[in-house]
Amino acid sequence: MSNKIRAAITGVQGWVPETRLTNLDLEKMVDTNDEWIQSRTGIKERRILRTPGWATSDMCVEAVKGLLEKTSTKPGEIDLVIIGTITGDMIFPDTANTVCDKIGASNAFGYDINAACSGFLYALATGSQFIETGRFSKVIVIGADMMSSIINYKDRNTCVIFGDGAGAVLLEPHRDGNGIMDFVLRSDGSGREFLHMKAGGSLHPPTAETVAREEHFVYQEGKRVFKYAVEGMTGTVNEILRRNKMTVDDVHWVVPHQANMRIINSVAEHLHIPMEKVTVNIQKYGNTTAATLPLCLWEFGPQFKKGDNIILTAFGGGFTWGRC
Ligand code: UT7
Repeated sequence: MSNKIRAAITGVQGWVPETRLTNLDLEKMVDTNDEWIQSRTGIKERRILRTPGWATSDMCVEAVKGLLEKTSTKPGEIDLVIIGTITGDMIFPDTANTVCDKIGASNAFGYDINAACSGFLYALATGSQFIETGRFSKVIVIGADMMSSIINYKDRNTCVIFGDGAGAVLLEPHRDGNGIMDFVLRSDGSGREFLHMKAGGSLHPPTAETVAREEHFVYQEGKRVFKYAVEGMTGTVNEILRRNKMTVDDVHWVVPHQANMRIINSVAEHLHIPMEKVTVNIQKYGNTTAATLPLCLWEFGPQFKKGDNIILTAFGGGFTWGRC
């Protein structure tokens, strides 16, 4: 027991679009096959947002609506909304403000965090600070991406991997020892070379030429990113365990970013953590970027017990990585 305020996740809700894009569908679109995709990534299908006029904010709104209902929270009680996303509705304004407006969170402010696949982790760490200081008592943290809006469905290197989805958590102050204990966050901007979307920003503003050169899509050097991802996702887990005087035996669950089943297996193997303790849903949703962690919490949360030690770990574009 301690009197220290910790930010506890008191509710989780996910939302994924209904439309399924299966490996068989992709076989008809690019030179690929179900066997390659499943054996190289572990993915069977992913969800794609096809509702006309809908964007990332609408997926967030669906997740938040369920979250508010589940936790008996009124929109007016929310202090802050932070969204980890790289596919906001527009370059500006930020999507969190749009979400506040759409859900009627009239006493809240909001902002987005651009940290690609580590976006939820960065947002969670940021949101937890406002709770721990005693400043706010209801912070919503969301990880959401509509990757289908920036994927080139003619590029087999990327189109088989990504999907759309959103997950939201409510953070509230707890003094009973439960809640977020610690986090380690890292970044290395030199990684931008290997994973990025080239055009559309101030470096290469959109022109007819950037569109013709297909520069408004995700570019990834998969093999290179894979290597960094395994190193990044394992390295600092040991650091966080050490500084909290724990060993892997004290860990009840590992919630890893869902980028590739082979990365997840490697991380578990490096850490000597049995796969029964590792959350996996990549087969159903693919890589939903900032949404993978909250979608795992949503799906596996009912199996977590009070007092379980849970490690969230992610690696993504930037490069950005960390664990909590
Ligand atoms: O979430 C953010 C961080 N991102 C990641 O962590 C992603 C990390 N990277 C990966 O997950 C993997 O590198 C990929 C899934 C992207 C690719 O898997 P890989 O085993 O690294 O494949 P590769 O890029 O080395 O390609 C191997 C072969 C190549 O053919 P050749 O040159 O050996 O003839 C590719 O052209 O597989 C080919 N290939 C495909 N074949 C069928 C690449 N994509 C496909 C495909 N279908 N979709």
